[in-house]
Amino acid sequence: MATAPALTPSRSITAPQPEPMEQRLLQRIGDDIRRERRVRRRAALPAGSLAPSWANTRAIISDPLRLLLEHQRRFGPVFTIRLLHEPIVWAIGAEVNHQILVSDFDAFQWREGRFADLWPLLGDGLLNVDGAYHRDFRMLMLPAFHRDYVAGVAQVMTEEAIAAAEQLQDGQVVEIYHWVRELALRIALRGLLGLDATDGRERPLAEAFEASLAIHGEPVLLQLLPLPRTPLARAIAARRRLDALVRAEIEERRRRRDPGRGVLGLLLSATDDAGSPLPTGVVRDQAVTLLFAGHDTTTTTFTFLIHELGRNPDVRSAVEAELEGAVGAGAGVPSAAVLDGQALPGLERALKETLRCYPAAWVGPRRTTRDVTLAGVKVPAEIGVQYSSWVTHHLPELYPDPFRFDPDRFLPEREAALPRGAYIPFGGGSRMCLGKRFGEYELRALAVVLLSRLRFEPCSLEPPRIVTTPTLGPKGGLRFVVRAR
Ligand code: HEM
Repeated sequence: MATAPALTPSRSITAPQPEPMEQRLLQRIGDDIRRERRVRRRAALPAGSLAPSWANTRAIISDPLRLLLEHQRRFGPVFTIRLLHEPIVWAIGAEVNHQILVSDFDAFQWREGRFADLWPLLGDGLLNVDGAYHRDFRMLMLPAFHRDYVAGVAQVMTEEAIAAAEQLQDGQVVEIYHWVRELALRIALRGLLGLDATDGRERPLAEAFEASLAIHGEPVLLQLLPLPRTPLARAIAARRRLDALVRAEIEERRRRRDPGRGVLGLLLSATDDAGSPLPTGVVRDQAVTLLFAGHDTTTTTFTFLIHELGRNPDVRSAVEAELEGAVGAGAGVPSAAVLDGQALPGLERALKETLRCYPAAWVGPRRTTRDVTLAGVKVPAEIGVQYSSWVTHHLPELYPDPFRFDPDRFLPEREAALPRGAYIPFGGGSRMCLGKRFGEYELRALAVVLLSRLRFEPCSLEPPRIVTTPTLGPKGGLRFVVRAR
């Protein structure tokens, strides 16, 4: 059975860990209110919906795409919406995306953006830190995302996909979202963290991790309620279980004096500038962040690919014909070379269009560190700003008939004509998704293995209701009848 290769750190961590974030709810609300007063004494906020509105707060959770497209049409690319007590500036469109991600990158920080809500789970992992501490860890983990390393992990991806496909029977009804989610989590645990598939630690870890994330599917007020038996109490208990399991894995590797494989091995071999190993909590935060960033996203993308192929038989037939040519129908096992993105241009276009329609990480939360002008609109320092790939990808001026699934938008000459900042499913600039290549290989491996063996017939052609929990997903999952090919 394949395992993730071992990695050697090429640098030490010199930057200090940031101070813990404020977790007491009332204290946080008080801080937000004081900060808004400070900001508004100095400057006006961009126009928009500034009055408190329960309807807008609910809509941003239940139907953000509609609310944000409406505001973009009324107010232009930069506008404010008050969510609960806090005003958030939204920046929509190719020009502002490029500013936030690339040209005015230094005007924004991540830690005080809305990913802060995930801090209790993710801690000081890559998504919640900035500056030198972020740079040190991104550089440290980079080798795990190089082409050769990811190509080496491709075997874990195909092995897991084949094992999962073999469990499915002709005629069986499968709810694909949760089915793929389990598969993607196993791939992340083995291929990314380097856990051994045979030692039984994988399943309890996966369960505790999923239970920690379940709170994000609950109504917002329930998420905040600090009482026994509420979703918050369950999430705290699940986080404790997850912590204990991750720490046990780390301690076990330390006891064996073998850092082990994958990114976890890399983190355990790394040292600070005094040559001491990194504290267990620091390793835990990076590992859990990678698990979070690395499995929800591929799950969503693959689920929506299957959904769109089910609704668009012409695209599905073209993808199936291409796969037959490249790996053969039936039991084809793709080589790493087939998964590098060149060999299957039709599948690649379908994946790109899926990521346009349903970009898993649909929102990029930031806070301004200085005054900045976005598309001509002044945005003051210290304010929450969010860009959104999902909304940008649905602007008709960039993508005519934006709700239609049309992979031909990504024919080479049409893709090349898109303005910069128009297509950003993986973010952009120096903090572009670290796992982009890993995610792309995984999506191709799942597509090649599953679509060359099976056909998924949709149980319903109704468009799914999309929820943000916190990545995009179909509410209640999506059901398909499995057919052997
Ligand atoms: C289809 C799959 C994926 C999509 C659509 C996706 C999307 C994104 C996006 C949009 C960002 C930037 C967010 C922002 O600007 O606020 C991001 C960051 C990140 N992603 Fe992914 N991602 C995917 C897969 C993965 C995988 C497989 C991993 C890990 C193996 C991963 C790890 C990360 C990390 C660590 C960051 C933070 C990078 C940094 O701050 O330097 N992602 N991802």
